[in-house]
Amino acid sequence: MAESADGRSEMGVIEEAERRGRTDLWPFWRKAYAQGDPLPQLTCTASRPGYRFDEDEPLPEEYRSLLTKMLRHEGERAGNKSFLGFMGTCLDLAEALFPTAEAKLLKAEYIAEELKHAIMFHRIAVGLQHDFALRDVPYAHYTFHLPRESWADDALFHFLVDLNGAFHARDWRESSYVPLAKMSATVERDELGHSEMGYHFLREIVSERKGQALVQCLLAKWYPAALDMFGRSDSTNAPRFIHWGLKSVGNAEIRQAYKGYVDRKLEALGLDVPDERANRRFL
Ligand SMILES: [Fe+2]
Repeated sequence: MAESADGRSEMGVIEEAERRGRTDLWPFWRKAYAQGDPLPQLTCTASRPGYRFDEDEPLPEEYRSLLTKMLRHEGERAGNKSFLGFMGTCLDLAEALFPTAEAKLLKAEYIAEELKHAIMFHRIAVGLQHDFALRDVPYAHYTFHLPRESWADDALFHFLVDLNGAFHARDWRESSYVPLAKMSATVERDELGHSEMGYHFLREIVSERKGQALVQCLLAKWYPAALDMFGRSDSTNAPRFIHWGLKSVGNAEIRQAYKGYVDRKLEALGLDVPDERANRRFL
């Protein structure tokens, strides 16, 4: 990472700026981690060679293509036009649907943090393949195209979809790609904070009977989509990702760990957990 004029690291400058932005609520991850490790362990049980590659090392072809495929899935990258567009729609939604100035400010903090991630993933992309850094990768998964027509929709999006990002970052802790392993704890923490922001909004919404009914109804749309984001349980790629040390567990395992976490949180809000096979597109 580059250095700023006064010799501090680029990330140091960003983190100092973040500390200035803290409020009682933001960032939400503080409370979650203050009570210990909020996320389940994802442990690899497969025997595999201990690969380890750093940025400037030559990469085996299969490894490079799997790593690029994985990074394409992570939309937040400064050179990804679709990501910047998505951030724009987030601002439009906050303007149109968010009920209070405080909620809008939290959304702005969320976007600032995603832009920080966009710098971090941009660095990884440049280190991997220059032309990948500017590639536009539209959001392929249908979850990103589900209509967000209410504050409750957006709250569920953050609670469930940013949590997906936290679980993936958790799985990078043991990544064989050193630059990814190095940034995993920060991305995991931030994404969990975004999920907790969504959960904070949900708690407010379900505090009223009408809100509770609305969220329960919207779960039928968002819950299956969130589980589908982990891909097919019989994916042929998953064993190769695990072999190369880019993932620790398969799609079914990480989905089950995620579901366990989500179900407990939904029940804590007095919501009924939908049937996990209902409305699914990828089992
Ligand atoms: Fe996020």
